[in-house]
Amino acid sequence: MMDIFRQPEEMRAWSQARSREGKTVALVPTMGYFHEGHLSLMRRAAELCDTVVVSLFVNPTQFGPNEDLDRYPRDFERDMELARQESVAAVFAPAPDSMYPEGFQTEVRVQRLATHLCGKSRPVHFAGVATVVTKLFNVVGPDVAVFGEKDFQQLALIRRLVADLNIPVRIIGHPIVREADGLAMSSRNAYLDPANRAAALSLSTALRLTRAEAGRGMRDTAELGRLLEGHIHSFAGTTIDYASFVDCDSLEAVKTVDERTVLALAVHVDGKAGNKVRLIDNGFILPQ
Ligand code: PAJ
Repeated sequence: MMDIFRQPEEMRAWSQARSREGKTVALVPTMGYFHEGHLSLMRRAAELCDTVVVSLFVNPTQFGPNEDLDRYPRDFERDMELARQESVAAVFAPAPDSMYPEGFQTEVRVQRLATHLCGKSRPVHFAGVATVVTKLFNVVGPDVAVFGEKDFQQLALIRRLVADLNIPVRIIGHPIVREADGLAMSSRNAYLDPANRAAALSLSTALRLTRAEAGRGMRDTAELGRLLEGHIHSFAGTTIDYASFVDCDSLEAVKTVDERTVLALAVHVDGKAGNKVRLIDNGFILPQ
């Protein structure tokens, strides 16, 4: 039996009952349209705690005015079926007005971490993420929450948020799950056109290329950057939003690659019906 809750109060009452029974609760926050990446977070959560709660909420406050809120892919019934198969105990799927009722006016902002990488082209995004994740933590009260390293900046920001606001939850990062050809799984891959697959693969192949060059001794990030940008641009229909070498905790740009250096990529590629699709990927450059 999997419970589905629409109201924060019902979700909280259920969670509190589990805690009274002495059960630990793990939360996996999502926006739905599940793929293997989401499912692997659910499996990880089940290893860590007695009970798994998944939240499914396409959070309007993290989308900018010209972004894809209206066309974000959704398939609630299929998602529920997949969650059941993963032995998820409860799904929290609130309507937008129960999360943001009339009169709502509070925002959570993580300052510096939100200004780098995706924060530059998506100025409202991370305040929306930080606010909704804080609300989800308050509603569910989980012992553990699992997030994907696919959204590396989001994970760094949530770790900071939880430390700064003394939220009693343990944050677990989970490795990126990829398609057989290397493409990082994403709900937004539904927008991709098979004809442009090669361009979509330019991110994961750029990561591979950069690791190989760094392994051969090239450590200067300007030099590596030129190489990988040339690689990405060699595919038709690609526009780089950023290709940045950053420190894994501060997300500040670095000049020389070391063990802490992550390459973070955001690239627009051509998708279905001539629409541009924004893809992200990242990874450490040197073996960890
Ligand atoms: P969403 O994009 O649905 O992602 C939900 C979780 O799945 C995130 O922690 C994300 O990093 C993880 N994930 C996505 N693709 C993955 C992959 N290929 N491998 C591993 N993990 C992957 O991220 C969000 O939703 C929202 O911003 C949210 C945190 C729910 C707040 O609204």
